[in-house]
Amino acid sequence: MPESRFTLDDRLPAGYFTDSLHSDVRKGLTDPPRSLPPKWFYDKRGSDLFEEITRLPEYYPTRAEQEILTRRAPEIAAVTRPSTLIELGSGSSRKTRTLLDALTAGGSLVRYAPLDVSAAALAEAGEAICRDYPGLTVSATVADFEGGLPLSDEPGPRLLAFLGSTIGNFDAAQRRAFYRTLALSLSSDDVLLLGADLVKDPDVLVRAYDDSRGVTADFNKNVLHVLNRELGADFDPGAFDHVALWNADEERVEMRLRSRTAQTVKIPDLDLSLDLAAGEDLRTELSCKFRRESLTAELHEGGFTVRQWWTDQDDRFALLLVVPN
Ligand code: SAH
Ligand code: TRP
Repeated sequence: MPESRFTLDDRLPAGYFTDSLHSDVRKGLTDPPRSLPPKWFYDKRGSDLFEEITRLPEYYPTRAEQEILTRRAPEIAAVTRPSTLIELGSGSSRKTRTLLDALTAGGSLVRYAPLDVSAAALAEAGEAICRDYPGLTVSATVADFEGGLPLSDEPGPRLLAFLGSTIGNFDAAQRRAFYRTLALSLSSDDVLLLGADLVKDPDVLVRAYDDSRGVTADFNKNVLHVLNRELGADFDPGAFDHVALWNADEERVEMRLRSRTAQTVKIPDLDLSLDLAAGEDLRTELSCKFRRESLTAELHEGGFTVRQWWTDQDDRFALLLVVPN
């Protein structure tokens, strides 16, 4: 039975979906400037819409990172020879298959340990990988990677993959906190494989987050459906515009939901009533873009050394092999 090699361990604290969502919404939405943390995008529908984003012609990061993985996976396998591949924010684990192919061919890998806040994504991806890689144990963990990393009992050496430029969804202060958490969790023989999207033409960047078919707009608005369902709120997703803009000073794309009119939104579970002005933004996501020198420097300050920096042919995206100092 493939199921016996697959476990799904829910490590979210009791009441996570009520307590954290309540406090995030209360903190973020009560007063302007209003914002929401991005992890609430990823219910089942959100995870499916993100998968659709990865296949859009405008969304180059997935294809660019896949190109690097395809080219470098044998080298990654040869230098790291891990017993366990841990993956943070694994989602559909689709690109991960390229790594799993090389690592299982290399013969060292016994366990794949994906970690994601989306139980639905983990269950679907984990079971499929279990079926397709009969020699592998798949130990999936539902957890919030901002709250410390439950990694302790994985056999080493471990390769920890953090792909998709999800690192760019943290601001600089969140990245510093994340490097501290990582430095505490990784041993000296562990290796980090990090995907990072690079600074480029702002038009190309903005189009990647504002596609012509409106899939990214639906993804962005999905967070309103989540709030309606979980908190009894009465957001009308049609009363908001999806906005993606390039912040040149911070070198990041910012995603917002812009209120089309002056409107009042009720969130009964929190006893909140929001008076939104016409044109007022809810900030829902950041996607920071990186440069080699500054990313290398901030990793160094966080306790890590960059061993390899690989890019795709068009220099759009970087894949880094990083080790603890
Ligand atoms: N690695 C995949 C998916 C990237 S999308 C790829 O490269 O295509 C980001 C993923 O991170 C989603 O699956 C989402 O559910 C997960 N995620 C977002 N915030 C998270 C958090 N705080 N803790 C754990 N997982 C999170
Ligand atoms: N990590 C992805 C990125 O920054 C997440 C993402 C892609 C995203 N498209 C999005 C987040 C649209 C919010 C809205 O590229």
